[in-house]
Amino acid sequence: MPGSSTLLSLTLLAVSASVRADYFSKDPLVDKVVPYNAIPYQVMTDTDDPRGFQSGYNQCNSSTENPQSLCQTMFVNHLDDFCLWAPPQPNTTISDSEQDEVAWCTKKGHGGRYIPAGAIQGIQMVQTQSYIQIAGYINQAMVNIGGTYGGELDSGGQDGEGNPMGGLVYTNAFPSAGGNNATYVQAQHWSFFIGDNYFCGKICDQTGSNPQGLCNNIYDRLGCEYNAPSNVENGTFTWCKGDDMTPVGTYVVNGATSVYTQPAESVSINFDQLPYTPTAAATSECTTFVSASLFTDIASVTAASGPSATGASGGSATGAGASKATGGAAGATGKASGSTTGSAAKPSGSSGAIAFGASVGGVVAGFAAVLAVL
Ligand SMILES: *[C@@H]1O[C@H](CO)[C@@H](O)[C@H](O)[C@H]1NC(C)=O
Ligand SMILES: *[C@@H]1O[C@H](CO)[C@@H](O)[C@H](O)[C@H]1NC(C)=O
Ligand SMILES: *[C@@H]1O[C@H](CO)[C@@H](O)[C@H](O)[C@H]1NC(C)=O
Ligand SMILES: *[C@@H]1O[C@H](CO)[C@@H](O)[C@H](O)[C@H]1NC(C)=O
Repeated sequence: MPGSSTLLSLTLLAVSASVRADYFSKDPLVDKVVPYNAIPYQVMTDTDDPRGFQSGYNQCNSSTENPQSLCQTMFVNHLDDFCLWAPPQPNTTISDSEQDEVAWCTKKGHGGRYIPAGAIQGIQMVQTQSYIQIAGYINQAMVNIGGTYGGELDSGGQDGEGNPMGGLVYTNAFPSAGGNNATYVQAQHWSFFIGDNYFCGKICDQTGSNPQGLCNNIYDRLGCEYNAPSNVENGTFTWCKGDDMTPVGTYVVNGATSVYTQPAESVSINFDQLPYTPTAAATSECTTFVSASLFTDIASVTAASGPSATGASGGSATGAGASKATGGAAGATGKASGSTTGSAAKPSGSSGAIAFGASVGGVVAGFAAVLAVL
């Protein structure tokens, strides 16, 4: 495990903008209350969205639990039992697949794909009174993620349909589930970031404090550091209780509370000039596990296809140095019109700036990354 002082830390910024920003759902995903025993085949109801319709399904069962699964219902239960959103096709970027991503799980029984053994390299899961947060290191090529750059998946999305469109999230670990593993409660507000071989996510309890604010999805360009600050270390697998963080974007300086507003997509974000640097909220009662003892269900699951298991393609300049401390995954949800390419990233240190832009399927995306040697 690299020491933090010698770690190459990567700050990256990814923005994408939908060409059509004028449509917003009449029946947004975040407002849909879907009891676990009443999940429809597809939860999306708007059929007039120019972005299209839900590509997978929400009814997931033993017949959908296979490597081609298009299950779009996922779970965050315990350290050994969670799913991530990742692309259905190999070697796909988050920005190209955000609306179509599917559930990849560490445990059998959820009707989705399995995360291959060895893909998860370290995790910290923190349960507070209001949410469950997960952050971890992942070999993202093993879950079909191509390129280096990441993005946000969330219950909002540029048109209110979510990313993936129609994605549903459940847990048996919220207090409102009553401590019974067979009882699942929906999380209406959730956000995940994945990219640069790092991921984080937060699912908020509707009966907890401020689910909209704690799982806010409007800070899609700020990555994990701001949306889900954690103390995860690569190579460790830890579950903790924790305090609620301050709502995403809210910070306190000298006793005064302020709210940071993420600028429009056309305005680059200088991470050195943000008004605050988040710190992980306090944790307690942490338990650390050996990874092999955690993921027994997927111990023999291998990556089905696509890129080799090591190293994301196209990411030569970034190597293994992604640090969660500088925002390992940045947002690509794209909520505004207009496009940006090559936005500035954290200018500290020096060396290896890489930037590229891509335009695929009506989404214009621009990326910039600066590799800083600490
Ligand atoms: C299993 O899920 C599929 C896909 O959602 C659905 O078509 C099928 O009816 C389900 N089967 C059962 C037995 O519920
Ligand atoms: C619920 O699941 C967790 C982890 O998946 C497990 O540790 C715990 O023993 C389970 N509880 C019961 C009552 O089965
Ligand atoms: C992944 O996709 C990129 C961009 O299309 C391509 O350059 C690269 O060769 C692909 N990698 C693999 C392993 O298929
Ligand atoms: C995490 O650790 C694994 C195993 O040592 C290593 O292969 C990977 O490159 C590390 N990831 C990062 C982002 O440092």
